[in-house]
Amino acid sequence: MSDIAPSAVEHLLDAAFGADRFGRTAYRIRQGMDAVPALSFALIEDGELAGTIQCWPVAHHAPDGTATPLVMVGPVAVRPDVQRGGHGRLLMAHMLEAAEHESDSALMMIGDPEYYGRFFGFTADATGAWDLPGPYEKRRLLARAVNGHGLPTSAGMIGPR
Ligand SMILES: CC(C)(COP(=O)(O)OP(=O)(O)OC[C@H]1O[C@@H](n2cnc3c(N)ncnc32)[C@H](O)[C@@H]1OP(=O)(O)O)[C@@H](O)C(=O)NCCC(=O)NCCS
Repeated sequence: MSDIAPSAVEHLLDAAFGADRFGRTAYRIRQGMDAVPALSFALIEDGELAGTIQCWPVAHHAPDGTATPLVMVGPVAVRPDVQRGGHGRLLMAHMLEAAEHESDSALMMIGDPEYYGRFFGFTADATGAWDLPGPYEKRRLLARAVNGHGLPTSAGMIGPR
């Protein structure tokens, strides 16, 4: 995303999620982390930013101190005026293809299983004992193995690495 103005990405995220998005639990999980460049992409259409996906290095911190690295997917955001045109699916598919070769750990996200399960194989099967540093719906805490990296299923807090 080096050739995209960071302000354009921020503007798109405001439009997709609302300007109060910073209070969301997802922002606390990745606090202080920089996005993973190899897994973060922008979709340009007619010279305009149409969508963006960012991924973040996070970890599952077990009570015994063991940390298992994970990559948090999201936000995935498509400009409201071009939503439902396949851009979100394109961004996710592109990221997953890169993750199959580049990701150093399994993937997790907070999202709608009706979308991320249906199209991309994310489920809440492994995440029942996980905890997050803020409010969330259990059914929306999703994860997926990738690039040979499996998922921890034990109790643990998800937070920055
Ligand atoms: C969610 C989002 C990324 C999807 O991207 P998009 O380009 O609009 O959607 P796509 O064209 O790729 O996919 C469309 C399909 O997904 C379905 N879909 C889209 N959002 C959905 C959701 N939240 N839940 C269930 N299904 C959804 C549509 O019904 C459509 O299905 P169909 O083809 O059977 O009609 C986009 O709408 C968006 O930015 N929304 C606001 C921000 C957000 O909620 N982001 C996700 C949380 S990280």
